[in-house]
Amino acid sequence: MIILTERLKAVASFVRGNRLIDVGTDHAYLPAHLLSAGKIDSAVLTDINPGPLKKAKSTISSAGFDDKCRFVLTDGLVGLDNEECTDISIAGMGGILITEILEKSEIAKRANLILQPMTHQHLLRKFLYDNGYSIEGESLAKEDRRIYQIINAVYTGKTESYTDTELYLGKKNIENRDPVLFREFCNKIHNELEIKYNGTKDPKLGEILKEIERIMEKL
Ligand SMILES: C[S@@+](CC[C@H](N)C(=O)[O-])C[C@H]1O[C@@H](n2cnc3c(N)ncnc32)[C@H](O)[C@@H]1O
Repeated sequence: MIILTERLKAVASFVRGNRLIDVGTDHAYLPAHLLSAGKIDSAVLTDINPGPLKKAKSTISSAGFDDKCRFVLTDGLVGLDNEECTDISIAGMGGILITEILEKSEIAKRANLILQPMTHQHLLRKFLYDNGYSIEGESLAKEDRRIYQIINAVYTGKTESYTDTELYLGKKNIENRDPVLFREFCNKIHNELEIKYNGTKDPKLGEILKEIERIMEKL
C-alpha cells in the first residue's frame, strides 16, 4: 500500500465518495492509496503532460489497479463533463491554475472538491465564494518545514460574504484553530503580508495585519 505524506494524507481525508477524478495526477499516489485502502472503487487520472501520465500508469499497474482506472491526457477537466464522479482532487498546483480549471468545467459543480493550492490560496478562496461554491472544510498539513493548505468545497449556487483576512487565513482554519499548526500558519501569512506592506504601505494590508495580530492574541 502506498503510504501518503502528510499533505496528500490531508487531501485524502476529504474524499467522500467512491469515484475520484484526480487532476494533475503525476505519480498517482493519491488514487493508488485510496484504491488500496478500499476508499474508492475507481478513478480517472488526468494530466496535461504525457510524462507524468506515464508515471501514473506505472504506479497504478504496480499496485494492480489497471482495471479500475482510466487515464486522460487533458487540460484540467476538459472533456470530462459526462464523467460520473463523486469527488475531484486538484492538488499540487498554483491557486490561479486551479481557478482556471474550475472555471472551464461544469462537472466541478457536481462533485465534492478537494483543492490543495501551492500559491495564491486567497485568490482561490475568493473565486470559490464569488462563484457559488461553499467551503465546507479546510485543513493545514506540514511537510519539510512547509505548511500546506487544503480546501474542501462544494457548489451550492449561493455566493458568500468574506473578509480579506478570511481569504488569507481561511474561515474554516480560523474556526478550527489547528492546535499544532494554526499559530505557525498565522505567523507565516503575517510575515508574507508584512513584507508586501513594507513595500507598498497599502492600508488594506495594514488592516489585515492588525486583524491577524488580534486573532493570534487570542490563541
Ligand atoms: C506538482 S504535480 C502534483 C502531483 C499531485 N497532484 C500531488 O499533489 O502530489 C503537478 C502536476 O499537474 C500537472 N498539470 C499542470 N497543469 C495542468 C493542467 N492544466 N491540467 C492537468 N494537469 C496539469 C503537471 O503536469 C504535474 O504532473
